[in-house]
Amino acid sequence: MNKNLRKAVIAGNWKMNMDRKGAEKLINELKPIAADKTCGVVICVPYTDLETALRLTEGTNIAVGAENCHFKKSGAFTGEIAADMLKEMGVEYVIIGHSERRQYFAETDLTVNRRVKAALAAGLKVILCVGEMLSEREDGITEDVVELQTVAAFTGISAEDAKNVIIAYEPVWAIGTGKTATAEQAEEVCAFIRGVVAKRYDQAIADGMTIQYGGSMNEKNAAELLAKENIDGGLIGGASLVAEKFGVLLAEASK
Ligand code: 13P
Repeated sequence: MNKNLRKAVIAGNWKMNMDRKGAEKLINELKPIAADKTCGVVICVPYTDLETALRLTEGTNIAVGAENCHFKKSGAFTGEIAADMLKEMGVEYVIIGHSERRQYFAETDLTVNRRVKAALAAGLKVILCVGEMLSEREDGITEDVVELQTVAAFTGISAEDAKNVIIAYEPVWAIGTGKTATAEQAEEVCAFIRGVVAKRYDQAIADGMTIQYGGSMNEKNAAELLAKENIDGGLIGGASLVAEKFGVLLAEASK
């Protein structure tokens, strides 16, 4: 119905993979594959690969993102990277609130919100991750969890700024497990999240928002997931590390 109102975006999340040599090889393989695709193409790479990625993708249709940023502008935060530092390099996107950060690095809804604010203030586009754990799905509270995560992340964000946010629905139990949510399960939650955005802002903002699915999305299951009304692309882990596989996803999202 409204799928044509928004852009499909396929974003790779390389996580903690690829040294500079590996990054160079993968991006050079990816460039010709991505060149004729009409969907948005983003690669989110480790900080140490950002410079390589920015250099190699210059003048192409591949945008570059980071995998996190800190919420302070500068200061005594050893090991952290500020949103302005990313922006100054030419980085366009940043993933915020990935479940691996929530699980292993004490990320909370509060710090996610602070990071989202900082990233948007710096002029970055945000890929905001939300999603339930297996136990939460089994307890029947998937919608409560993703609603809370979504509402918390958008606290204090203007409607205008919200247009620079992509939401990635990533059920934690489907990440890196080979266990994909069924297209119906993914569609159900993505539609629900769109409703949450409509309630928080308005229908136009919700209709225009790109909502991705992520979690073991690959060259085999992408077509079925991407055909769904409320799934506007994907946030891809494992399959984004192999150019041909990522290319299939780009082709599917460009149909
Ligand atoms: P996988 O595609 O490897 O399951 O990872 C998904 C993910 O976490 C993307 O952010």
